[in-house]
Amino acid sequence: MKVRESWGSRLGFILAVAGSAVGLANIWRFPYVVGSNGGAAFIVVYLLFLAIIGLPVFLSEIVIGRATHTSPSGAFAKLGGSSSWSWAGKMTIATGFIVSAFYSAIAGWIVGYLFEAVMGHVTHFETTEAAAQYYVHLMSRPLWGLSFHGLFMIACTFVLFFGIKRGIERGTKIMMPLLFFTLVLLVGAGLMMPEAERGLRFLLEPDWNALTPTALITALGQAFFTLSLGQGTMVTYGSYLRKDVNILRTSIPIIAMDLFVSLLSAVAVFTIVFSAGMAPNAGPSLLFQTLPWVFSQLPGGYLLAISFFLLVTLAAITSEISALQPTITYLRDEWGWKRSTAVLTTCGASFLLGLPCAMSLTLYGKCILGVMEWLASSIFIPLGGFAAVIVCGWVWGADRTIAELESNEKLSPWISVYLRVSLRYTAPILIVIVFLKSIFL
Ligand code: PHE
Repeated sequence: MKVRESWGSRLGFILAVAGSAVGLANIWRFPYVVGSNGGAAFIVVYLLFLAIIGLPVFLSEIVIGRATHTSPSGAFAKLGGSSSWSWAGKMTIATGFIVSAFYSAIAGWIVGYLFEAVMGHVTHFETTEAAAQYYVHLMSRPLWGLSFHGLFMIACTFVLFFGIKRGIERGTKIMMPLLFFTLVLLVGAGLMMPEAERGLRFLLEPDWNALTPTALITALGQAFFTLSLGQGTMVTYGSYLRKDVNILRTSIPIIAMDLFVSLLSAVAVFTIVFSAGMAPNAGPSLLFQTLPWVFSQLPGGYLLAISFFLLVTLAAITSEISALQPTITYLRDEWGWKRSTAVLTTCGASFLLGLPCAMSLTLYGKCILGVMEWLASSIFIPLGGFAAVIVCGWVWGADRTIAELESNEKLSPWISVYLRVSLRYTAPILIVIVFLKSIFL
C-alpha cells in the first residue's frame, strides 16, 4: 500500500493551518464588522466565542482527522460508527468547495487591485466618490473580474499540484512570514498617522449598546469562518498530522496567530481610516473604496497600497488552497484518483462555479455571490461544526476524544473538564441557539 503523505514538521503544520485561518476574514472582514458592531464591545464577545465555541470545534475537527487519517467523508463515518455519518463529512467537503468558488472570486478582485496599485491607478483619488466610482467601473467589466479570478485560481492550482509537504507546507513557509512582515509594516505606518490615537480608542472603548442579536450572530459566524471550521479543512489538514504531535499545544499558537492578525489588521485599518477623517462603519466597501482614497491622501501611499493588496493576496492564497484540499483529498482517498487529476478537476470546477460570482451576476435579483456566501456561512458551516462536536462529544465520545488529545502528554485536570463540558454542552447548545436565531431573525 502507498504511504499517505504527512506534514514534514510541527512548524510546517502550524504555518499551513495558520495560513488557512488567516485570510480575507481577518484582514478584510474583521475590521469592518468591528467597525459596524460597536468596536471593543464586539471584540469582547468575539473573544468569548473563540474560547467557548471556536476552540472546542477546532480541536474536534483536528482530532477527527488525526484519529482516522482519511478524508472528512471516511473520517466522520469511522468515528460516527456508521456509513450515514459519511454524509456529514461529505457536506463539509461540499461546503469547502462552495467557499473556494466565491472566495476565489473575491480574491480575484484583490489581485486586480494589486495590479491597479502597481500601475498607480488606485492612489490618485481626489474624493471618496471618485474612489467609489472607480470601483464600480472595474466591477462593471465582467472580463476584469473573470481574468483575475482565473489568475488567482492558477496560482492556487500551482501550489496544490506539489502536494501537502512540497506544495502547501513549503508555500506557506514562504508566504506567512512575508505576510507578517507586510502587516507589521502597515501597522507601523498606521500608528504614525496623526489621528492614530482615535483609532486605537475606538478599538479599546466598548460601546455595549451596539451589541444587538445580529452582532452576536456576526461574532459567531466570524469565529467559524476565520478558523476555517465546518468545511472539512481542519479535518483534512489534521488527517496528515502524525501521532507524535500534541494537538492542543499546536492549536493554541494557531488560534492566537489568527486573532493577532485580526487585531493588527483592525489597528492598521482604523488608525488609517480615522486619520483620514472617515467613518469606521463603511462596511464591506472599506477595503475597495475607502482605503484606496486614504492611500491617495497619504505620503508613500503608492507603496502602502501595493503592500496592502499584496498582503491580502498572500493571505487569500493560503486560505483558498485549504478550502480546495478537502475535495482533492476526498477524490484521492475515496475514489483513488491521481493527485494531478484530482487537483486539476477540483480547481477547474471551483473556477467554473466561481464565474458568476466573479462577474457579479445576479439570479432573480439576488447577487449569486451573496447567496453562496449566505448558504455557506449561515447554514452549512454551523451545521458542519455542530456535527464535529457531536461526533467528538457524544458519538465517538468525549473520553476517546480526550485520549486522542492526550496521545503524548496528559492534559491538566482543569483543561480536561473544560473541554468535556464545552464539547458536550456549551458548544453544541450555543451553536444551535445562534443557528436558529440567524435563520429566524
Ligand atoms: N479562514 C479563511 C479566512 O479567514 C477562510 C476559509 C474558510 C478558508 C474555509 C478555508 C476554508 O479568510
